[in-house]
Amino acid sequence: MPDAPRPRLRQAGNARGLPAALWHSRLLAACRGEATDATPVWLMRQAGRYLPPYRALRSRLAFLALCRDPSACAEAALTARAWLDADASIVFSDILLLLEALGLPLAFAGDGPQLAPLADAAAVDRLREPRQAAAELGFVAEAVRRTVAGSPPHIPCIGFAGAPFTLAAYALEGGASRHFLRTKRFLHAEPAAWHRLCSRLAEAISALVAAQVDAGAAAIQFFDSWAGCLPRADYREHAWPYLADCVRRVPAGIPVIVFAAGAAHLLDLLAATGADVVGIDSGPELAAAWDRLGPEVAVQGNLDPALLLAPWDRLRERTRRLLDSVRGRRGHIANLGHGILKETDPHQARAWVAYIHEATARCTT
Ligand code: CP3
Repeated sequence: MPDAPRPRLRQAGNARGLPAALWHSRLLAACRGEATDATPVWLMRQAGRYLPPYRALRSRLAFLALCRDPSACAEAALTARAWLDADASIVFSDILLLLEALGLPLAFAGDGPQLAPLADAAAVDRLREPRQAAAELGFVAEAVRRTVAGSPPHIPCIGFAGAPFTLAAYALEGGASRHFLRTKRFLHAEPAAWHRLCSRLAEAISALVAAQVDAGAAAIQFFDSWAGCLPRADYREHAWPYLADCVRRVPAGIPVIVFAAGAAHLLDLLAATGADVVGIDSGPELAAAWDRLGPEVAVQGNLDPALLLAPWDRLRERTRRLLDSVRGRRGHIANLGHGILKETDPHQARAWVAYIHEATARCTT
């Protein structure tokens, strides 16, 4: 029986004319819900502080300087991909650079990112023109180009951006937040300005994504990391339309992954954006979440990142359980439920990837 491609891709096929090795790569085949010779796996934040070569790069370059240096970005992404033997690289960048380009100064202090927050509705209208802001991030596209150039032919490079809601929340809070009170107050008190803010963000995000695809990104992931703070009705009304707009505007033939953290109550809405793949965090049981979404969508996730710190036997047993729970279904991309922790032993991360390949190896003929 031929594999039924997912709705977005059914219409598009290989519209970008990707080389066969990429089009039939494990990751892209799984995004289309096709059988693969083993389950593809990559790790969110796979190029990060748990890896000694990354720490060495960071001893030379501050985080933002690294993000603006395409050859260092490619080195970070490629080294991590090769160490893990992951089935994809992800361009080394950060979702917050776009906010800086839109006019909000950004700094990474010891304890996470800090932005000069939007003070009021009038500040929304002082943001820079979205396409121009995206164009200022030419170094992101260049990092994609160099990452693709340095990758084996069957390894896709995933491009990414923050989702409009999460970027809007960062812009309003100025950094991490517990209750998102500024964000919630703003979206309820200033609905017109909220709409202008999210529309502008969607415009800038779409331009940044298009530039990454033009540079060779073969899949796109949207991070709606803070979506989970919104009740379902508010997410549907005040966040979903803008993410759906971004998904719709991804160039044809490029699979889209959407990921939100703490968002078990939103999964069907994420799928309804038209995404090919829904990233599932560690909260729900993967098989049950997938049952709710239906077989037309692929899923990515959802091992608890903390399990990578557990003794190997426990990690292996939990991973086997996870893989068994979705065995026989097409379209699973193994990943963590959130970013890899900096405390992770890189050898254990690498053994985890190898174990997934080994435990899912199958004959496709
Ligand atoms: O391999 C990769 O995935 C690297 C590319 C990447 C980074 N950030 C690099 C990074 C990606 C995909 C991101 C996305 C990102 N950035 C998200 C969405 C994913 C998520 O975690 O929900 C968010 C919310 C951000 C914003 C951000 N950037 C935060 C909150 C922090 C500080 C947290 C921390 O781990 O220190 C960052 C910094 C950051 N971005 C680091 C890396 C490797 C660590 C910075 C360092 O080297 O000191």
